[in-house]
Amino acid sequence: MDLENKTKKQLVLALKKSQRERDRLRSQLDRIIDITAGIIYILDPDGRFVFVNNAVEDILHYESEELIGKHFSIIMPPAEYERVSRVSVLPKYTGTKTGIDEAPKLFDERRTGQRRTKNLEVQLLSKSQKDIRMMAGDVTGIIAVEGVYDRGLIAEKKSKAAAFVGSRGLIFDITRYKKAEKDRLMVQHRLLEIQKIDALGRLAEGIAHDFNNKLGTILGCAEMIKQNFASSSAGLDMYIDPVISASRHAAELTGKLGLFARSRVPVEEKVGLHALVHEMVQLLEHTVDKRISIRYSLWPQPPLVQGDSNQLQSALLNVVMNACDAMPQGGGLGFETAVHANDDAFKKKHSHAKDAAQYARISVVDSGAGMDEETKSRMFEPFFTTKENGSSMGMGLTSVVNFVKTHKGFIEVESGPGKGTRVDLYLPFIGFEQPVSHREVSQGKMVKGTGRILIVDDEHSFLGISKYILEDLGYSVVTCLNGKEAVKYYRKHHAGIDLVIIDVMMPELSGRGCFHEMKKINPRVKAIVSTGFGHNQEVEAVLKDGARDFIHKPFDNAKLSQAVFMALTSK
Ligand SMILES: Nc1ncnc2c1ncn2[C@@H]1O[C@H](COP(=O)(O)OP(=O)(O)OP(=O)(O)O)[C@@H](O)[C@H]1O
Ligand SMILES: [Mg+2]
Repeated sequence: MDLENKTKKQLVLALKKSQRERDRLRSQLDRIIDITAGIIYILDPDGRFVFVNNAVEDILHYESEELIGKHFSIIMPPAEYERVSRVSVLPKYTGTKTGIDEAPKLFDERRTGQRRTKNLEVQLLSKSQKDIRMMAGDVTGIIAVEGVYDRGLIAEKKSKAAAFVGSRGLIFDITRYKKAEKDRLMVQHRLLEIQKIDALGRLAEGIAHDFNNKLGTILGCAEMIKQNFASSSAGLDMYIDPVISASRHAAELTGKLGLFARSRVPVEEKVGLHALVHEMVQLLEHTVDKRISIRYSLWPQPPLVQGDSNQLQSALLNVVMNACDAMPQGGGLGFETAVHANDDAFKKKHSHAKDAAQYARISVVDSGAGMDEETKSRMFEPFFTTKENGSSMGMGLTSVVNFVKTHKGFIEVESGPGKGTRVDLYLPFIGFEQPVSHREVSQGKMVKGTGRILIVDDEHSFLGISKYILEDLGYSVVTCLNGKEAVKYYRKHHAGIDLVIIDVMMPELSGRGCFHEMKKINPRVKAIVSTGFGHNQEVEAVLKDGARDFIHKPFDNAKLSQAVFMALTSK
């Protein structure tokens, strides 16, 4: 009896111990379920929540209790629920009473042996979104779900079937990762677009270059015809003048195309703000809505800043394009320039002002829609745009800010809804533009002269016409089609050559390289460089190296004659 009692007692103790152990484990499991970052849930066979952990509060903003008894479809947009119930073991809600084999999925699962769905990406609706009944979910989750079966419930013992008694699973919130992925794809897409634009730019530059050379030939020939035959053949002017003016106009446009197409290494040069405004306005005349009227308020003397004229031009163009975009029905577009001393009062007013003694300001003012505070606070952000035209990347102002920063300046924007916008770019002021040179004063006059000139250009027809023009002015001319040949010729004959005209853009040996070689042969070589584009880095470099002047192609015959004359008569 004693022994029996003892054993009983031991048994009770052991039972209690194991119960305690079970309780301990159970409470630990409960804790883990509670602190898990994913939603853990159990559904009845109809798909109603039987259990859901606290994570649902953080992810979907439901209290776990309020979901109990609710159907699973409550946390998904209807279309998404349709999809999910088609591809997973989640029971489709049929509204019928639960019974053996009633869950439609069970059939398939038996056939395929699939009882689990893992890593299914789903759109979920948080509580507030559910009220709005948004068609797209605001949370993205990864769901894992498995059906729960009970063989005991099947009446026919021989059947292999088991009764579907519900499902359980886990949902992880991957919204953040999805967003990061989306942002990454967007950045990648935009990068591709930028590369595409860059490639187009290079293509345009190439076309502009070749086109310019052809135009040079047309213009040169037309001018020659006019000079030599207009007096003898009546009425010729009527035909030849439009050719000349149209070619000049085309050359100007091509020059601008080349200028804007180029993506170059930044150069340091003096940039006149007024010339910049004028170029911009010329460009706008061809492109901008006629209902936008342009006005100026320019400083009495043209201010100069130091930097890359192309970059400044495209910064200004970005600001101007924004202004135009803000005035789809037309309005007023104003350009202003000014010079400000960077004194205490200025510093106080402009917190971004640094240590320049004076700042030159170029401003663009529009009477457009203006910006609200939210837009204003984000306008400099990369890829921030409010335009839904598909071509706006939201990079305009970002590049402007980069530009002013690298040029030691700053930008200020004043704007309000319906009040228009004013953008001020401040850059260190370096002086005023000098009055026009003697060369430009005598512009328009052909100057004759004597001497022997070597012209180097890879464009055959261009060489022909230049030779013709210069010979007509009294010079003797030799031509070379490439740099190497020219250097070879110069080595032999330099004593008889008074001036060299070199194209800067040549394949193989560049204009600059060619000039260097010639300088080695004769350090006092007189050279003029010719260029299809504006005052670019190459031109700047050759001028620094000692070239006398530069001329634009296609040549204006009078300008060419003057440049040649000046170079030959200077020391
Ligand atoms: N003058 C302006 N008037 C009204 N809103 C402006 C003006 N300038 C800029 N914004 C606002 O700032 C946003 C950002 O301008 P930003 O130039 O950086 O990009 P974008 O013009 O949208 O695109 P992108 O310049 O790349 O074509 C614009 O989408 C617009 O909402
Ligand atoms: Mg823009």
